[in-house]
Amino acid sequence: MKVTVFGTGYVGLVQAAVLASVGHHVVCVDIDQRKIDDLKKGIIPIYEPGLTPLVQEGYQNGLLEFTTSSEHGVSHGDIQFIAVGTPPDEDGSADLKYVLAVAATVATHMEQHKIIVNKSTVPVGTADKVRAQIAEVLAQRNVTIDFDVVSNPEFLKEGAAVNDCKKPDRIVVGSENEKSKKAMTELYAPFNRNHDRMIFMDVRSAELTKYAANSMLATKISFMNEMSNLAERLGADIEAVRRGIGSDSRIGYQFIYPGCGYGGSCFPKDVQALIRTAHEVDYQPAVLQAVENVNVKQKQKLFENLSDYFDGQLAQKNIALWGLSFKPQTDDMREASSIALMEALWSAGASVQAYDPEAMEECQRLFGKRDDLRLMGTKEAALQGADALVICTEWSRFRAPDFDLIVAELNHPVIVDGRNLYEPDAMEEKGIVYYGIGRGQSVKKAAI
Ligand code: UDX
Repeated sequence: MKVTVFGTGYVGLVQAAVLASVGHHVVCVDIDQRKIDDLKKGIIPIYEPGLTPLVQEGYQNGLLEFTTSSEHGVSHGDIQFIAVGTPPDEDGSADLKYVLAVAATVATHMEQHKIIVNKSTVPVGTADKVRAQIAEVLAQRNVTIDFDVVSNPEFLKEGAAVNDCKKPDRIVVGSENEKSKKAMTELYAPFNRNHDRMIFMDVRSAELTKYAANSMLATKISFMNEMSNLAERLGADIEAVRRGIGSDSRIGYQFIYPGCGYGGSCFPKDVQALIRTAHEVDYQPAVLQAVENVNVKQKQKLFENLSDYFDGQLAQKNIALWGLSFKPQTDDMREASSIALMEALWSAGASVQAYDPEAMEECQRLFGKRDDLRLMGTKEAALQGADALVICTEWSRFRAPDFDLIVAELNHPVIVDGRNLYEPDAMEEKGIVYYGIGRGQSVKKAAI
């Protein structure tokens, strides 16, 4: 099939490359000329395992094209994906200006029936706005051309996006008629061979499904973080509790890992946007609000642990930080707990020596050069002359470090672990003061 994808960001590029890999002819449109030039050279703007070879292969065999010409893009695809960004505006709600601009562009150039598919995460009711926008431009052009608007939210995880896209758990399609339903079924047929993953519904339900899914996952995390805070006060070990409840198949083991708060481009933004949407329809979303509040507080947890150890005397302290990205396998630092920690440390007069396998450049880009931030080439170098070690991201290379070296390098043998990578008893044996999340030092205090 002929497909056009507007927006070569995270969602658009992965979707386009995967659709081309099964034989669809995909044209990617972006207004950023440099990005398009880079993509043609096989240079991918994001770090995502498996994406580079897929893009290069598609470009070489001609099934994946890159252009800044929206005219070409609109004339090419029977299906037009909108996969542009929806950054939060000042009040936290999703800004639709890019989405509606693409809708207007499609309407400006279309000469025959098109199916406009919204992939961007957008508030419930956006499809109606896209439809109205297209109708308005067509009316200005004084033409009557039939079109359909479909909602097809993405459920990609960063770091596993290619795989998630190739083997989706489900393909949610909100559509209004048989024609668009049939086209979407044909488009996704290659991903649907072994069992039917298509879930059809009305457009508004599809739009809400995306927010409900992310909010449910965020709820599981905030719930576990709340339990971990309770465990600390009650002298219990949250890791034992996690295994105890995860074994109930109704609860399940996934997304119940306590930590230093969720980050990324989706959970914080989507929970906040859904809260906004609820307010707009005069509903006070008590659960969602609590999920958000718990997460904001949890991001201060590592700083509080350090403060506890150093009795609030953090000025002039030099803190080693392992992990800057919001999760492993990505260089993305959006809403990362490391940012909340660094900012709190800087306000308290401490400095940071950080190492991350992928996000060093991103950190440099975000914070530039400053005296209280040193980006170190290895995790060992980050320890040199540091007063304590904090772990923000569970990169696998942090799982079995040389603890003797850690003790030898640090001025104080203390590890604040935001991801529960180590065993409190083993740490104690090595003479390390260990703060985990819902276990370790703080739990011991409660038990005394
Ligand atoms: C998420 C959803 O998983 C995906 O379906 C959606 O399309 C986009 O948002 P992503 O943001 O890439 O994907 O990351 P994810 O792996 O879900 O992790 C999000 C955050 O939650 C990370 O900061 C992670 O550390 C945290 N997390 C996750 C926990 O703290 N505990 C857990 O048990 C799981």
